[in-house]
Amino acid sequence: MIAINSIDELKANLKACKEKGLSIGLVPTMGYLHEGHLSLIKKAREDNDIVVVSIFVNPTQFGPKEDFDQYPRDRQKDLEKCEENQCDYVFLPQVNEMYPEGFSTYVEVEKLGQVLCGESRPTHFEGVATILTKLFNITKADRAYFGQKDAQQLIIVQKMVKDLNMDIEIIGCPIVREKDGLALSSRNTYLSEEERKDGLLLYESLVRAKELIDGGERNVSTIKQEMKGIINRGKNSEIDYIEFVNGKTLAPVSEVSGNVLIAIAVQVGNTRLIDNVIIDA
Ligand code: PAJ
Repeated sequence: MIAINSIDELKANLKACKEKGLSIGLVPTMGYLHEGHLSLIKKAREDNDIVVVSIFVNPTQFGPKEDFDQYPRDRQKDLEKCEENQCDYVFLPQVNEMYPEGFSTYVEVEKLGQVLCGESRPTHFEGVATILTKLFNITKADRAYFGQKDAQQLIIVQKMVKDLNMDIEIIGCPIVREKDGLALSSRNTYLSEEERKDGLLLYESLVRAKELIDGGERNVSTIKQEMKGIINRGKNSEIDYIEFVNGKTLAPVSEVSGNVLIAIAVQVGNTRLIDNVIIDA
């Protein structure tokens, strides 16, 4: 495994791989790797000759009052995990390598980037789309791997790749959860014991929604009401949104039918948690 900080060096290495006809799989991350990230790396390992993991806490996707500075970082452990999972290259650029002075080009995916998380984080998805465009161009990967955990991000990346004719296949992978159902997230490390219990209610509310739908309930406001009741049992929780949207367009739905994404975001103490489930009714 080779760890690289420089764009030119990574490009030169991967160009040589391409010339040998090897396929490249990219797993973009912000590090502090957990089993969710590792599931993407394992899938990339199965599908490709060369696996590249990028670790970069991307400043342009954080708002001015968000946790860019506090975001957890542990490069040594991350490198060990990449090595254990047979990665070929780990790309760890500095901020000024990705955003040198004078940087001024951004990618915006209209509409999809403004709803759900985009409402409370208005510049977030522009930052995500921009860094991913750079990573796709630098690596020229054949495939890139994303978690369903960030459902909106996955939909936006797929749309961006289609709209801008990018030559890369986007692969979505299932949400990895703790035994009790909490979706793994690097930000879970911020949670106190009590906050973690409140965080579990996100999953509980999604399980309940699924149960109601399996029992024949189709009315979104009825299901939302029950979900609210469950999440509000958390003393430290403040709901940002509970939304039922079309799984492709992210347009809100009032009846559960077809492909529906139930997405939730909850502020638990100082930590913003998201979770979701896809229903095929
Ligand atoms: P990060 O939060 O580090 O997540 C990297 C990838 O891991 C994303 O595709 C995310 O959906 C996936 N992931 C996180 N938790 C997961 C879980 N519990 N189960 C399955 N997959 C999970 O998402 C980002 O970084 C950034 O926005 C990035 C795409 C790297 C751009 O900066």
